[in-house]
Amino acid sequence: MSNIQFIRNQNPKPKPKSDELKFGTIFTDHMFVMDYSVEKGWHDPRIVPYGPISLEPSTMVFHYGQAIFEGLKAYRNIKGEVVTFRPMDNIARLNRSAERLCIPQVDQELLWEGLKMLLEIEKDWVPAAEGTALYIRPFIIATDPYLGVRPSHTYKLFIILSPVGAYYTEGFKPVKIYVTDKYVRAARGGLGYTKAAANYAASLYAAEEAKKKGYTQVLWLDACHHRYVEEVGTMNIFFKIDGVVVTPSLEGGSILPGITRDSVITLARSMGYKVEERLISIEEVFEAHEKGKLEEVFGTGTAAVISPVGELNWNDRVIKINDGQMGEFSKLMYDKLTGIQYGREEDKFNWVKKIC
Ligand code: COI
Repeated sequence: MSNIQFIRNQNPKPKPKSDELKFGTIFTDHMFVMDYSVEKGWHDPRIVPYGPISLEPSTMVFHYGQAIFEGLKAYRNIKGEVVTFRPMDNIARLNRSAERLCIPQVDQELLWEGLKMLLEIEKDWVPAAEGTALYIRPFIIATDPYLGVRPSHTYKLFIILSPVGAYYTEGFKPVKIYVTDKYVRAARGGLGYTKAAANYAASLYAAEEAKKKGYTQVLWLDACHHRYVEEVGTMNIFFKIDGVVVTPSLEGGSILPGITRDSVITLARSMGYKVEERLISIEEVFEAHEKGKLEEVFGTGTAAVISPVGELNWNDRVIKINDGQMGEFSKLMYDKLTGIQYGREEDKFNWVKKIC
C-alpha cells in the first residue's frame, strides 16, 4: 500500500446544484499532489485542501510549456455508486504524453491509489443529474526555477476535480464546426498524439477566428496537405457515410488517441457496424454530402461525450448535416456509452471501475 498523506480542508465549500452545472468552473475541497526530483523520484504523495500554489516566476513551465494533462470522469450510477470509466487507459496515456515531453514516468498503481483515495474523500461532490459527472483533471508541470532550455529536473503532479455538466454551451445539441485549412494543430512527428498543454495553446487563435464567424469549434486538417481530416481539438471526429462509420486513423501520430473514440469504435463493431479507421479527406466528406450519403457527423471526447455536428463550413461551403438534428447512430452511441457509465447497460468490456 502506498503512503498517501491526507490533510483535511477545514473550510469545505457548499456543493453546487447538480442541474445548474457548467463545465470546469467549480472545484472540490481537496486535490492530490506529488513531487518529483532526480534524487527522490516521485515522492510525497498527498491529498491537501484545494487552493492556490506558489511558484517562482522563473519556473520552467511558464517559459517552455513542459506541461501535460489528462481528462476522465467519475459518475454517480443508478445505484448511487461512484464509478470511473477506463481510468487505467487515461493513466497509461499520461505516461505516453510524459515520455514525449521528457517528463519522468509515473507509477501507474500509485496514481490510481491516489485517485481512488481522492474520489472517496470527495464522493459527495459527484453529481447525480442526467448528463453530469465529476471531471477529473490530472496534470504535470515542470518546476525548476531555470531559464535554460532543457527538460526540468523537478515536477509537480496534481489531480483536481470539478463537478460538470455539458461541455458546450449548446448542451448536447448539434454544434457548428469551422474547417480550417489555414492553420494547423499538429504535424507528423510533433506532439499531436499527446495531451500536451501546447496542443491546446496552438488551437486558440483559429478557434477564436471560428467563434467570430459563429462556429463553436475548429475541425483541423493534416499539416502537410491541408486536406485530410484530423480532429476537433477537444474531441475526435466520426462520419457515417452510406452506412459505414469512418474516423481518421491514428497512424500519423498527429491525432489524440481518444478513449471515448476507442470506446465508440469497440461498441459499434460489437453491434455489427462496419467501422473504418483510415485517411478521410475533407473533399470526400463534402462529396458524400452532395451525393446524399453523409448521414451523420459527431465528435467524441471525455468532456464532450458524443457531440453531434449539425453544420460544417469549409471555405464558405456550408453543409447542414441530418437537418441539424442528432442522428440515430450518434444517439445510439450516446445512449450505449452513457448507459454503461451510469450503470443502465451491461458493461461487457469491463470498462467501469467502482470507487465506492
Ligand atoms: C477531455 O475531453 O477531457 C479534454 O481533455 C478536452 C478538453 C476539455 C480540453
